[in-house]
Amino acid sequence: MIGGLVKIGPTNTMSNLFKIEQSHQDYAELLQITDTHIFADEEERFDDIDTKASLNDVLNLARDNNWPVDALLATGDLVHDAKTIAYERLLEVFTSIKEPIFCLPGNHDSPILMHQLLNTKNVHTSKSIEIGSWLIIMLDTFLQNTHAGQLQQIELDLLDDLLGKNLDKHVLICLHHPPVEIGSEWMDIMRLNNPDEFFAVLDKYHHVKAVIWGHIHQEFNSERNGVRLMASPSTCVQFMPESGEYRRDDRAAGYRYLKLHTSGEIETYTLRLNEGTV
Ligand SMILES: [Fe+2]
Repeated sequence: MIGGLVKIGPTNTMSNLFKIEQSHQDYAELLQITDTHIFADEEERFDDIDTKASLNDVLNLARDNNWPVDALLATGDLVHDAKTIAYERLLEVFTSIKEPIFCLPGNHDSPILMHQLLNTKNVHTSKSIEIGSWLIIMLDTFLQNTHAGQLQQIELDLLDDLLGKNLDKHVLICLHHPPVEIGSEWMDIMRLNNPDEFFAVLDKYHHVKAVIWGHIHQEFNSERNGVRLMASPSTCVQFMPESGEYRRDDRAAGYRYLKLHTSGEIETYTLRLNEGTV
């Protein structure tokens, strides 16, 4: 049990709350990995990249720089093809890690298959995670037959309910689709469809510290009403920032490190293969 991590496990099946005990008294350490895009066919490539090999490389980078952590957050497009075999190939990687990994769906995923397949000893699709003075909320923005995303009323109600019942916590919200424009036209037309409804819930409260997402395969940092807004590199292919149409960015794959202090402060940075701290 590295670093004293204690996995307490699901505590309430109704609200799907998972509770973990942080290794350090003053902070929790998390990694965000996103857009892993594992293929069903092991021979397939994403712009010449073997996505499973790239994920393993990124996890090894994390092991060299930020291990151990209390948990990993996998923010969607976990597979490229929403098929059982693709999730099984992902699990071959995830079950080699003993830290808990919390997963939410992206546009390439099947939320149903994820709930069926991604609940193992250390892999979970829990909607909320309590760790020290923090609550992490995992939202589902999947919308059938489109690459855009939407928060259904049930997700908005869950968000409101969790925020209202955890006023003593600092909150980190995770989702796949960007709730703001990122200045890249082809990506902005497939962002979250209903950001106003999302922010209307957030604006009722003062304890949300940050929102993190995937989907855009690039780093992004902004702020709205004191809430940090951040996206992270994919563990495989990168997209060029501020490009009007699809353009591959040659920067390397990576992940985000998050240190959530008991005080509510967040320290965070991204780290990429063959690069130093960004
Ligand atoms: Fe993606």
